[in-house]
Amino acid sequence: MIDKTNFAKKLVELRNKCGLSQSKLADMLYVSGQAVSKWETANSLPDIELLLPLSQILGASVDYLLGSGGGNFENSGGVMKEAIAAYDVSDGHIGLLSAMSGSLSREYLYKAAKYIEKDTFEYRLSLELTSCIDDAKNCHRREVDLREFDKDALSPFAKQLANLTIQAVNSGYNPVLDILALMKCPECGKDFEYFKDTESEYISCGEHRFDVNEGVVDFKTLEIHGYTWSSWLRCYDDYKQKFCPKTVWDPKSIDDFGDFDKNYIRELQKSKPPVILDIGSGVASGIKKFAKAIDWDCTVILTDLSHRILKYSKRHIDENMLNAHVKFVYLACDVKNLPFKDGSVPCILSYGGYCSVSYGFKESIIESRRVLKTNGKIMTDMGIISDREDKNAQKWLKLITDGMEYDSDFYWYHEQIYDVKEWHELIKEFGFTDFAFIKTRDEEKAPDTDKFPYDYEIARWMGLAFISMTKSD
Ligand SMILES: C[S@@+](CC[C@H](N)C(=O)[O-])C[C@H]1O[C@@H](n2cnc3c(N)ncnc32)[C@H](O)[C@@H]1O
Repeated sequence: MIDKTNFAKKLVELRNKCGLSQSKLADMLYVSGQAVSKWETANSLPDIELLLPLSQILGASVDYLLGSGGGNFENSGGVMKEAIAAYDVSDGHIGLLSAMSGSLSREYLYKAAKYIEKDTFEYRLSLELTSCIDDAKNCHRREVDLREFDKDALSPFAKQLANLTIQAVNSGYNPVLDILALMKCPECGKDFEYFKDTESEYISCGEHRFDVNEGVVDFKTLEIHGYTWSSWLRCYDDYKQKFCPKTVWDPKSIDDFGDFDKNYIRELQKSKPPVILDIGSGVASGIKKFAKAIDWDCTVILTDLSHRILKYSKRHIDENMLNAHVKFVYLACDVKNLPFKDGSVPCILSYGGYCSVSYGFKESIIESRRVLKTNGKIMTDMGIISDREDKNAQKWLKLITDGMEYDSDFYWYHEQIYDVKEWHELIKEFGFTDFAFIKTRDEEKAPDTDKFPYDYEIARWMGLAFISMTKSD
């Protein structure tokens, strides 16, 4: 029998230690504030499927929360080694990290490794506690720096240390600060300032305020009416099951990437941009792969109309991405009105993102060019046909115009069909003089039917091209 009162006590204690309000915790679990309040007053217990996410947010094991255990996580030596190597943890900090490894979830252990070198943490406990450590007994300073002690000395304090870590991570610094100088308010064009207190985190130009909800700056954009595709993902588990391979892929060099993806990697490695803006990130299948090849310090900005999808991508990246060179920022915004100043961003990338911007694909590239720095590059891939006049292409185009009668999606899609010659003209129309255009696939043979054969994949029949456009001025 689970003791509700005991659970409630632990929940209140851990939530406060993590610096989370009841409503913030409720948001993170997709439940109402009332539900959290009922758990904390011992009137009810959370549903079973919430226990794991709850334990991860609070950094305590399910066993501990339900009352029978001591908060132990089984982080293997392999996980420790991976985290230490990925974030280049110095020898002085390894003892501290391993002392608390059993009290932190895998996710928080990685985060601790990531931030431990950055002085985000105040690893100081009062002398009252440290007086138990032999070496510290003779110390006359009021506080001692725990990084000076080895794992065994720190083990009795593993839980307190883990709690300090969780607090530091949850109130940790947001890399949106690093790119604030590049940004402008999409409503009025003024500069932003960043604000954070215990209850809220937001950026504001003085007149307009945009909250940072669960790590994602929310410019209050809505998904396209009639195409709220992310509602297809009911929860984070759906995201993981549908889009994330079970085994973590660990490329060692460019040779491990597929031929198509190598085009992106080559361009990125040539210019090594300090900031990459990813347009229409969606489930981030592209940028999650490319970020693994980044071996220079880089801030990667993921953007999408959907706050929900970015929130899931953020969680997946936080839990799985180990690359100490990369910081990630998440902006729920519209590519047709980017919150960036003219000529501020050195590199823009979109892995199949531009072709999803219905009724505005041209505007989205023009807007991207606006925010691009001189000599900066846009890299993307687009569905394309070889020659509009070709018989096979004509057959496909007829199937699509016929399709307009029964499906409105064909309308906006039809506007985006260009052949190779037309694409060259289009790139010049956008204002790019310098571009590379690599056709990587030809279009399919048209079927002998009267109806378009692919219901939801309107582009499936088309060829594919990788395009890289440089802004010369
Ligand atoms: C096919 S997905 C892109 C795939 C993704 N880049 C990847 O690597 O997995 C297209 C995304 O574009 C987003 N999108 C569509 N219109 C947009 C707009 N105007 N501004 C920002 N994102 C948009 C959609 O919400 C969707 O998530």
